[in-house]
Amino acid sequence: MEKVIDEFDKDQRELIHLLHEIQKQFGYIPAHMISQIARQLKISESEIFGVLTFYKAFTLKPRGKHLITICMGTACHVRGAPKILDEFKRELSIEPGETSGDNLFTLETVNCVGACALGPIVIINGDYHGQMKTREVDKLIKICRQKNGKR
Ligand code: FES
Repeated sequence: MEKVIDEFDKDQRELIHLLHEIQKQFGYIPAHMISQIARQLKISESEIFGVLTFYKAFTLKPRGKHLITICMGTACHVRGAPKILDEFKRELSIEPGETSGDNLFTLETVNCVGACALGPIVIINGDYHGQMKTREVDKLIKICRQKNGKR
């Protein structure tokens, strides 16, 4: 696990690049790696935590195989995003910020992804699903489960 850190120069400007690389490899930033990063880049752990909390793209918690992001921005909200979110919460039995017990799904919310005309928007593993309807939620979850050989 430390190899990814060693590959980076001892340069503070490399922090975000290094964090992206770690998250790409592990799906999250393991907390025990923070001190190693701090030593390698000669910065404090609090500076690293500052960056981790500022950029929502980084997470200290393991994510599920399928990341489901629901836009709760104003345009999506008025077009029914709360009902879409409720349906995902009901189907997956998790709240935003949580990962399902089988580690298949992580549910997140964001405020506007810049595609307001297509709202409500749900992003699953980077794929945008516009004009979402609550009846489509079950189908999208089933597709994800099938990709993992589960029904
Ligand atoms: S409010 Fe959802 S994309 Fe803008």
